[in-house]
Amino acid sequence: EPATVLADVTVTITAGPTREALDPVRFISNHSSGKMGYALAQAALFLGAKVNLISGPVAIAPPSGAEVFAVESAIQMRDTALKLASESDIFIGCAAVADYRVAQVAEQKIKKQGDEMNITMVKNPDIIAEVAALTKHRPYTVGFAAETQNVDQYAQGKLKNKNLDMICANDVSRQGLGFNADNNALTLFWPDESLELPVADKQALAMSVLMEIIKRLDY
Ligand code: PMT
Repeated sequence: EPATVLADVTVTITAGPTREALDPVRFISNHSSGKMGYALAQAALFLGAKVNLISGPVAIAPPSGAEVFAVESAIQMRDTALKLASESDIFIGCAAVADYRVAQVAEQKIKKQGDEMNITMVKNPDIIAEVAALTKHRPYTVGFAAETQNVDQYAQGKLKNKNLDMICANDVSRQGLGFNADNNALTLFWPDESLELPVADKQALAMSVLMEIIKRLDY
């Protein structure tokens, strides 16, 4: 029997890294594998949701049944996210979005030059903050915070500054957890409470995260 607690609920999830091009052959990116975001998509599908999965470039297969929107840059991810957000009941930002992009993407391959080179970068839009700022059809908005120090403090800062409903703090300094690992551990924060989810595989954690969201939804 398929579960139906999220029947008629649309969940939009961002996953994976973004790529910020320098020129036609190079980019700046990060180590996100997409595993955590894809596990969230899988859990939401299992619970009967309609799932939009906005994904940066990853090497894993999407869960069957998800509607996949493949993107590369943060700007592309933002445009897709904002199109889908207001028709979503839940929005989860699990992607590792580049905070900056290259100011001037070179049209031709950059040639080797002197001993140093500098790249000017400009700030990317904050996707999850833009979703949380929607005034019409704002989804229940959940962020992640990947931190290597002051994890809880920084995560709570992001919860507040981005006006999120919930944030999943991810200590990515821990061996064998976080980026490109099969296991993870999270601390969930809401404006007035928190919950620790100890080490588990990403699929189990994803299900716990969704159950905590569901408890707080007013359908
Ligand atoms: O993909 P995996 O290999 O499975 O790894 C999982 C993960 C470590 C990537 C994941 O668990 C995680 O922590 N994702 C968030 C990574 C991140 O970029 O965190 P951040 O603290 O920089 O960003 C905070 C929040 O703002 C996130 O919800 C992020 O999606 C969002 N953001 C950030 C920058 C930006 N320009 N727009 C955003 O929406």
